[in-house]
Amino acid sequence: MLPVALKPEIRDGVVRTLPQVLEIEQEALRNKVIDAWALALQLNGYERIEEMPGSGMPEASVLGDQSMHIRVVGYSAVSLYENLCKAYRMEMGLDRDLLIACALLHDVGKPYEFNPQNRERWAANHKTTGAPNVRHPAYGAYIAITCGLPEEVVHVCASHSPEGRFVTRSAYATLVHYADDGSWFSLASLFDLNIPKL
Ligand SMILES: [Fe+2]
Repeated sequence: MLPVALKPEIRDGVVRTLPQVLEIEQEALRNKVIDAWALALQLNGYERIEEMPGSGMPEASVLGDQSMHIRVVGYSAVSLYENLCKAYRMEMGLDRDLLIACALLHDVGKPYEFNPQNRERWAANHKTTGAPNVRHPAYGAYIAITCGLPEEVVHVCASHSPEGRFVTRSAYATLVHYADDGSWFSLASLFDLNIPKL
């Protein structure tokens, strides 16, 4: 049971922003991925992923909007895995649907961390709330659990980023981690961006 009724226009927007979600063949998983982004956006006053700036964290350089980042991690994680299978001429045992879900949801917690009202409140009250109160990996895990996503996806939300140093990352999380860092640090070189190495 979700904490709010999801607005259909926000769900539709998620599909338009992330067309790769339609490659997820398992209908229940596909719908939960769409639900998760719609819930995170709706709970934090956003309608579209594009409304968030294109950065890895609010303090980092911005290039484009957040939708570009989510799309590139989706494409890169899948192509990295498929290239491994192609080059080594073997199946490596991951579920392609789950890999797409993991990649598209890795930053589903960002609407909370980027929410301007949250940031203003945390800046004013950091002695009691901390700042940020919760980073996007932990909030993403909350969203994924709330939407009934499988634990493979919950783990990637929680552990794709530096938080993953404290656990043994799954193969899904490792692929997403390098797709994520690979895109940011490639862009940093191409465009002289300031991308903090955490
Ligand atoms: Fe990311």
